[in-house]
Amino acid sequence: MTTPTWGWSERLSLKHQLMDATHQEFVTLCAALAQSEEQSPFIDRLDALIEHSIEHFEQENRWMRDAGFPPAACHQGEHDAVLQVMQEVRRRFAEGERDLGERLAEELPLWFEHHVDTMDNMLAQYLISNEIAVEAA
Ligand SMILES: [Fe+2]
Ligand SMILES: [Fe+2]
Repeated sequence: MTTPTWGWSERLSLKHQLMDATHQEFVTLCAALAQSEEQSPFIDRLDALIEHSIEHFEQENRWMRDAGFPPAACHQGEHDAVLQVMQEVRRRFAEGERDLGERLAEELPLWFEHHVDTMDNMLAQYLISNEIAVEAA
């Protein structure tokens, strides 16, 4: 597999405790997509990631709504788009397009790093600088 060493690192930390904890969970589940089919079925690993992502994204969407975060629509749009991709890959993988699983395992870490650097970073800075307390879902 092409991304066996990808995992959590301080480089991904936004110094926001709840967000970092959620992101560590995402990284673990996302990195697991690169495991082999012998370890566990890809569909099961993808389902676990999708289930996590629905809650992860809804948690951030709620924080943005509650805090009146200005670029909320743009950020939520990125969540919706990547979730759609995951669900589309799940559907097509189940229909036999197995190579899509490997492509997703390669691309998602790149998407996530970019998303953390931009959208999530802006949200974390907004919450921290405005001293807005948030709660886990
Ligand atoms: Fe996030
Ligand atoms: Fe986000």
